Amino acid sequence: MEIILVEKSPPLKGKVRINGAKNSALPILAASLLGTEDIILEDVPRIKDVEIMCEVLRSLGAKVEVLDEGLIKINSKDLNNHVTRYDLMNKMRASLLVMGPLLARLGKSKSSLPGGCAIGTRPIDLHLKGFKALGANIETEHGNIEAYTDKLIGDKIYLDFPSVGATENIMMAATMAEGETIIDNAAMEPEIVDLQNFLNKLGADIRGAGTSTIKIKGVEKLGGGSHQIIPDRIEAGTFMVAAAITGGDVIVDNVISSHIKPVIAKLKEVGVEVIENGDSVRVIGTNNPKAVDIKTLPYPGFPTDMAAQFMALLTTCKGSSVVIETVFENRFMHVDELKRMGADIKIDGKSAIVRGVDQLTGAKVKASDLRAGAALILAGLVADGETEVGNIYHIDRGYVDIEGRLVNLGARISRKIVEEE
Ligand code: EPZ
Repeated sequence: MEIILVEKSPPLKGKVRINGAKNSALPILAASLLGTEDIILEDVPRIKDVEIMCEVLRSLGAKVEVLDEGLIKINSKDLNNHVTRYDLMNKMRASLLVMGPLLARLGKSKSSLPGGCAIGTRPIDLHLKGFKALGANIETEHGNIEAYTDKLIGDKIYLDFPSVGATENIMMAATMAEGETIIDNAAMEPEIVDLQNFLNKLGADIRGAGTSTIKIKGVEKLGGGSHQIIPDRIEAGTFMVAAAITGGDVIVDNVISSHIKPVIAKLKEVGVEVIENGDSVRVIGTNNPKAVDIKTLPYPGFPTDMAAQFMALLTTCKGSSVVIETVFENRFMHVDELKRMGADIKIDGKSAIVRGVDQLTGAKVKASDLRAGAALILAGLVADGETEVGNIYHIDRGYVDIEGRLVNLGARISRKIVEEE
């Protein structure tokens, strides 16, 4: 099995370019099922989750060609299958995002109910509430979920929680519904805006993404077009924390800094220097980082996907920090692993109290999810000795060659194949 070995590294220095956003590429790939002409996507990250989503699209009858670096061509004219295979659904929860497009194109969609995962049960009740409001019948039996209808009719839908996936799925289902659909309390993440811009290029009529009210006017059909995926704000935040935790000086390129305001603000509170310059951000670490409190919230609050990485930094900051997770039930799977590296963290319900320590020590640890894995790598960069991170398939789902890009910044990190224990 593969592991990532991290040794204590010097302050990171140099430049790193951020890839297209995983959490924009996945819904936009799913939305490509709505188009009936050629679609070209640029800056699609070459990560495992994108490979799985391309396999899902092919299994439904779409033609998908991976061209040059980050370029993907899709044509869904001959879409002919409404059933998402269990093995694919099981590999990636985001496969759920094909339900809306299939309902819009074929009037039906069947897939297995997505399982939970390390960070929580992750129900889909809000997705289904939206489909029902648009007139779909929903049947769940034997672990499968089927949605079908002769016609989708626009309606007003209130989301009890600003769910990113539910907002995206309902937006896509409503693109060709009769009349207007209004989504209230919609998620406001930048990836929702990117999806709106992509769908409107195909001929959809959507307004309001980025606010809590999105209006979708149904159209007859969607065509094709080309679109460049926005930069990955979470990957950018991850590399910014890598610079901070090592006291380094790194320029992070291809960043929309307005998408990561909370992370920039919190790094500055820690005492890190952050210099925004167009589409790049320079991060200069400090030798005397200070403890700060973090509370994760839906966008534009501090992103839940950055909590684990930031907590790794907080384990080295003088004083006590409180990290409160409000989005997922259980986003503290990395805490026990960080404690094995000498971190001083106590969990109390949805809060984690982090007391800074003088020195972390390398240990054998395991990634429980994508962002927890990234956090363990960041901690390994400053831990005395060697840190061996297992279950790195989680990390490969969302980061392109994370160790190669960290090596380019001076990190002592490598990928190894070891015997299964
Ligand atoms: C998206 O997941 C992202 N994934 C997640 O990133 C991210 O953490 C999350 O949004 C929040 O920002 C993709 O975009 C592919 P949600 P999603 O629906 O859509 C509850 C990463 O590391 N909920 O906003 O699944 C749910 O249980 C991943 O890149 C319902 O109750 O997130 C959770 O507590 C991890 N009912 C909360 O809402 C529903 O029908 C947020 O979930 C749907 C969600």
